[in-house]
Amino acid sequence: MSDPASKSHGRKSITASLKPRSLMDGPERLARAWSAQVITLLPDAFPGILGHSLTGKALKDGLWQLDTIDLRHFGEGKHRNVDDTPAGGGAGMVLRADVMGRALDHALPRAPEGAPLVYLSPRGTPFTQAMARDWATRPGVTMICGRFEGLDQRVIDHYDIQEVSLGDFVLTGGDLAAQAMIDASVRLLPGVLGNESSTEEESFSDGLLEHPQYTRPAEWQGRKIPDVLMSGHHGEIAKWRRAMSEDLTKARRPDLWNAHSKRND
Ligand SMILES: C[S@@+](CC[C@H](N)C(=O)[O-])C[C@H]1O[C@@H](n2cnc3c(N)ncnc32)[C@H](O)[C@@H]1O
Repeated sequence: MSDPASKSHGRKSITASLKPRSLMDGPERLARAWSAQVITLLPDAFPGILGHSLTGKALKDGLWQLDTIDLRHFGEGKHRNVDDTPAGGGAGMVLRADVMGRALDHALPRAPEGAPLVYLSPRGTPFTQAMARDWATRPGVTMICGRFEGLDQRVIDHYDIQEVSLGDFVLTGGDLAAQAMIDASVRLLPGVLGNESSTEEESFSDGLLEHPQYTRPAEWQGRKIPDVLMSGHHGEIAKWRRAMSEDLTKARRPDLWNAHSKRND
């Protein structure tokens, strides 16, 4: 049976004709693959950047899977309307509760047990590396991309949806935020990055920003790589990197520095 509302990206979607297969074609979930489901008005915007580089290779290799659910499919009437004017007046349009409810009733039975249900929203809890780490340990995530003025509050309350923000700015829609958060989570899945230790040393892993990085040439525009990095002395290099990490964090992110200091008191 075909499922016109959903489109699968990744290994299970690759057939001889390279046409996506639907979610309803059978017990499709790849064994142990991390699964992202995204409800969106712009399913063609996926996998987007996630289809490239390491996340794209991991998608093709079946380390994770992506299913987009087209909100329009659940719209009202001949024109499949998904939005209406805000109750109480004001500018813009709001995504309807009944339409999103139908999309969620379609998506939730397909989500793996334990996958967080998230609405991308500037009002939400700010997304962090810790959240990405948590999501990467779950079987996947189900995301709702908003548009217009956002989503009817009753859906958020009814399904107890977690609101998560990409940062203190307003995007046109949740799709870019979803892709950013999926990227941050997928790269932490085992086997996605070639060198596992690279996630241990990067920014935020120890609550600190990362030290500066350099590579060849040894001198460029009269600027040299710091001598210590060329010394081959691993102990001194580690000390220098740690000191730079601490200095940068203190200068740029006093909030992170204070939290780090408290944890290490
Ligand atoms: C134009 S915004 C709506 C903004 C909303 N009226 C407000 O003032 O909070 C449309 C959609 O984009 C998404 N969005 C916008 N900014 C975001 C952010 N910083 N983080 C996550 N999602 C965001 C949300 O899904 C939102 O429903």
